[in-house]
Amino acid sequence: MAILQTTRAASDPSFVGQSPIRHSLEVLLKATIVLLPGDGIGPEVIASAHRVLVQVAQSHGHTLEFQEHKIGGIAIDLYGDPLPEETIAACKRSDAVLLGAVGGPKWDDPNAKTRPEAGLLKIRKELGLFANLRPIVTFPELLDSSPLKRSIIEGTDILFFRELTGGLYFGPSGCETLPDGQQRAYSTAVYTTHEVERIVRMAADAARTRRKKLTMVDKANVLEASRLWRRVSAKIMHEQYPDLEYEVVLVDSMAMHLLSRPTSFDVVVTSNMFGDILTDEASMLPGSLGMLPSASIGSSGPGLYEPIHGSAPDIAGKGIANPLATILAAAMLCRHSLGLHAEAEQIERAVRKVLALGHRTADLVPRGQPSIGTEAMTQKVIENL
Ligand code: IPM
Ligand code: MG
Repeated sequence: MAILQTTRAASDPSFVGQSPIRHSLEVLLKATIVLLPGDGIGPEVIASAHRVLVQVAQSHGHTLEFQEHKIGGIAIDLYGDPLPEETIAACKRSDAVLLGAVGGPKWDDPNAKTRPEAGLLKIRKELGLFANLRPIVTFPELLDSSPLKRSIIEGTDILFFRELTGGLYFGPSGCETLPDGQQRAYSTAVYTTHEVERIVRMAADAARTRRKKLTMVDKANVLEASRLWRRVSAKIMHEQYPDLEYEVVLVDSMAMHLLSRPTSFDVVVTSNMFGDILTDEASMLPGSLGMLPSASIGSSGPGLYEPIHGSAPDIAGKGIANPLATILAAAMLCRHSLGLHAEAEQIERAVRKVLALGHRTADLVPRGQPSIGTEAMTQKVIENL
């Protein structure tokens, strides 16, 4: 059998979203995946997702090669750099990257030379990952773990497209001392037409494969950069996507609507900072951060996949972290970077089955109720693949 390298699916916008896709008949035989466990519970949840991927690959006859590299606090400790050159090079050579989490109190000193988070921001930029996909889907079995009423959240299925390499995160910033001794600090939200166009198009393509509705979130009543978003996206939607329902919502009202009528949204597209905030808010709809994966993709090259939750230093090393978000991120990796749709669905089905069977990690049950640990949960998923 010929050894084929993976098709770089992330370059194909039709891979975005949950469905149908070209290349789906192509068989992937060989791919390289870089694992970046990072800090806190990162290594534990990455170990789980790794085991799931190995099992899935074996059962389908794929050859996945895994390489592990350092990012975040651990990389600062070892190399004085949250994103060593070697890690960047390995990621660039790979077909996909699976990341755990970065950060922790050990590296929180505001006067430190560098921070773990800088590694994450830099890898996004280095790999050109301008689109961060964050699906917010409620699991029927977990409806009662959400702090919100079942009647409000039932049926929620939102796909966020957060712009990831521009805006306030990457615009000119600085801090200077004024003549009177005060300090003056600034961060600037900057976007170009091209940066807005490519993410809006990607989001609209995804909406086309879903419920055909796109919501663009901005603050155009105040911010100039938002007014650019509004003009650019209105033009694209009018000219290229007349078949989609298109609405614009101000970010402050979006914060409210997400909690009052989450089921009225399908695909949501927004800038870096607004997307950061809104997706953390939205993550409470399904009940636990421990369930939510995310994918960061660019126009070509490897994608980066990670759980939405952070490094959770308080529970690191205790063997109780919920590995499901990272396992679901591995499913997204199969779908978006490797074009392995059946395999992605197989993983997602196994997760749903395990939940339906009643298995829960500690974050998914009320305090004091019985739960299982990271290891056991991983084993359950593997048994149900
Ligand atoms: C996220 C995180 C990061 C961000 C931090 C860790 C830099 O909050 O991925 O949402 O702000 O983008
Ligand atoms: Mg965030």
